[in-house]
Amino acid sequence: MKQTRLVTLAASLALLAGLWTVHHEANTGNPPGAGQVPAHAAYLQPVPGLAPDQMQTFRAGEKVFNNFWIAIPNAVISKWWDLSQPGPGGGGWGLGPTFLATSCVSCHVQAGRGRMPDTGAGPLFQQTLRLSIAGEGPHGSPNPEPNYGLQLQSFDIIDSKDQSRQAGEAEVHVDWKQRSFRLADGETVALREPSIRIEKLNFGPLAAGTMTSLRNTQAIAGLGYLEAVSEEDILALAARQKTQGLNGRPNYVRDDIGERVAIGRFGWKANQPSLRQQIAAAFRHDIGITSSLYPTQNCPPVQKACRQEIVPDKPELSDELWRQVAFWATALDAPRPADASPAALRGEKLFEQVRCAQCHVPELKTGAFPELPALANKRIRPYTDLLLHDMGPDLADGRPDFRAGGSDWRTPPLWGVGRSKQVNGSTSFLHDGRARNLLEAIVWHGGEAAASRDAFARLSKAEREDLLAFLQAL
Ligand code: HEC
Ligand code: HEC
Repeated sequence: MKQTRLVTLAASLALLAGLWTVHHEANTGNPPGAGQVPAHAAYLQPVPGLAPDQMQTFRAGEKVFNNFWIAIPNAVISKWWDLSQPGPGGGGWGLGPTFLATSCVSCHVQAGRGRMPDTGAGPLFQQTLRLSIAGEGPHGSPNPEPNYGLQLQSFDIIDSKDQSRQAGEAEVHVDWKQRSFRLADGETVALREPSIRIEKLNFGPLAAGTMTSLRNTQAIAGLGYLEAVSEEDILALAARQKTQGLNGRPNYVRDDIGERVAIGRFGWKANQPSLRQQIAAAFRHDIGITSSLYPTQNCPPVQKACRQEIVPDKPELSDELWRQVAFWATALDAPRPADASPAALRGEKLFEQVRCAQCHVPELKTGAFPELPALANKRIRPYTDLLLHDMGPDLADGRPDFRAGGSDWRTPPLWGVGRSKQVNGSTSFLHDGRARNLLEAIVWHGGEAAASRDAFARLSKAEREDLLAFLQAL
C-alpha cells in the first residue's frame, strides 16, 4: 500500500473512531441497568463498582484502544517534532515498520468481533493469518516462518522511491467452498468453508511445510472476569470432564511477564495467559508498536528495509498507556443477557439436554483478584470452560500453538453472542469467521463435540429454534 493510500486509510479510521466517540459519549455514566445500554454499546460498559480514579483510568484506556498510531515521518522530522507528544490521531508515533491495522478498534469495532468478507475480492483486514514451521520456538511457542515471522502483515510504512515496490509482506484473501449439513428432519444447512489464498508475497515463497491459521478478531467484553477464574478451578473442570468422556485440557503457555509457564486463557487457542500480555503482543504484531515487554521491532532478517527503519530509543508504547488500555480491557463488563422469552427459557433446557453445557459451562466463579477487586469472588455466566477441545478435522488448522494441537480450540465464551450483530454488524462466528450465523456455528462442531452436534441435529425444528432463541438472548 502506498503512502497516499495509507494517509487516506488513517483519515478514514480517524473519522470512524470520531463517529464512534460521539455515540458512546451519549452513554457515559456508571453501570447502566439491563435494557438501558444502547445495543451498539453492549460490549463497552465498565464493570459496576469502579472508584472514580479507576473510572478515569478506564476512560483513558478506552482512548488508547480507539486512537490510531502513525509512522514517524522520517529521521529529519523526528528531530524537531516532539515525539513524546501524542500524534495527530491522539495516539502515538511508531506505527510499523510492518502492520495490519493502525488501531485496536479498527479490528475490534465497538469491542466486537471481526467481519469476514463474503467474497475473495478484497484482502482481509480484520483477521490475522498466523504462520509457523515445524518445531518449536522459544519456550515452546510456535516456530516462526523464517522470512515472514509468526503472522503476515499486509502493510508497511517503508518509504520507497520505487513506486512499483510491493508494500507490506503479502495480501491474504479467502475463497469460499460451498457445502452443506443435513439435519435429522431432512432440512439442510448451507455452509461455506474457507480456502486461503496468499498473494504478493514480498520476500519470496513461504518455507516448505509452512502451517497457517486464519483467525477472526474476537469480541473482548468480560475478559477480566475470565482472567480472575483461579487455575485450580480450571483444572477441576478438566478433571470433571474426564469423567464425562470429554477431554478438555488447559493450554500451558509462556507467561513473558512472570517469566514462567502459565495456563493460557485468551485467543482462539488459549495461547495468551493474561490480558496485559495479549495486548502487548497485539501492539507488536498487529500495529508494529514496541513496548517494554516486547522492545524489538518485528522484522525478520531478510526484511532489510524494515530493519533500517528508525529504532526508537524507548518503547513506542509507554508503560502508562499499556497499563491504561489493559485496565480498560480488564474492566469491560460482561454483556448483559436480554430478558428471556419463553422460547429462550425452553432453549436453555435444551442447551443442557444436548450437552452444549459440558463445554460451554454456564456458571463459573472468580477467585481473589488483587488487580481489580471489583471482579473478585463473583458468580459469572460466561458459558466456557476455558479448556481446549479437539473439534475434529473440519475445523482443524493443523497448526500447533504451545500445547494446543492442530484441531484443538478453546471453548469460546458465549455471553453476548446474541448482541454481536447490533454491536457492529458482524455475525461471523468460529475461529475463522466461517459461520454466518449461530446455526452454522453449531453444525460445524465435530470431534469431541460431535455427539452434542448430532443430538442438536435430531431436535425438531421448533426445538432448534428455541435453542437458537436462547443463544440470541445471551
Ligand atoms: C488486525 C486486527 C487486530 C488488531 C489491530 C487488534 N486485534 Fe485483538 N485480536 C485479533 C484477533 C485475530 C484475535 C484472536 C487472536 C488469536 O486467537 O490468535 C484477537 C484477540 C484479542 C484479545 C483476546 C480475546 C479473547 O477472547 O481471548 C484481546 C484482549 C485483544 N485482541 C485486544 C486487542 C487490543 C487491546 C488491541 C490493540 C492494541 C488489539 N487487540 C488489536 C485481531 C486484532
Ligand atoms: C466439546 C466441547 C463443546 C461442546 C459439547 C459444544 N461446543 Fe460450542 N464450541 C466449542 C469450541 C472449542 C468452539 C470454538 C470452535 C472454533 O472456533 O473452531 C465452539 C464454538 C461455538 C460457537 C461459536 C462462538 C463464537 O464466538 O464464534 C457457538 C455459538 C457454540 N459453540 C454453541 C454451541 C452449542 C449450541 C452447543 C450444543 C449444541 C455446543 N456449542 C457444544 C466447544 C464445544
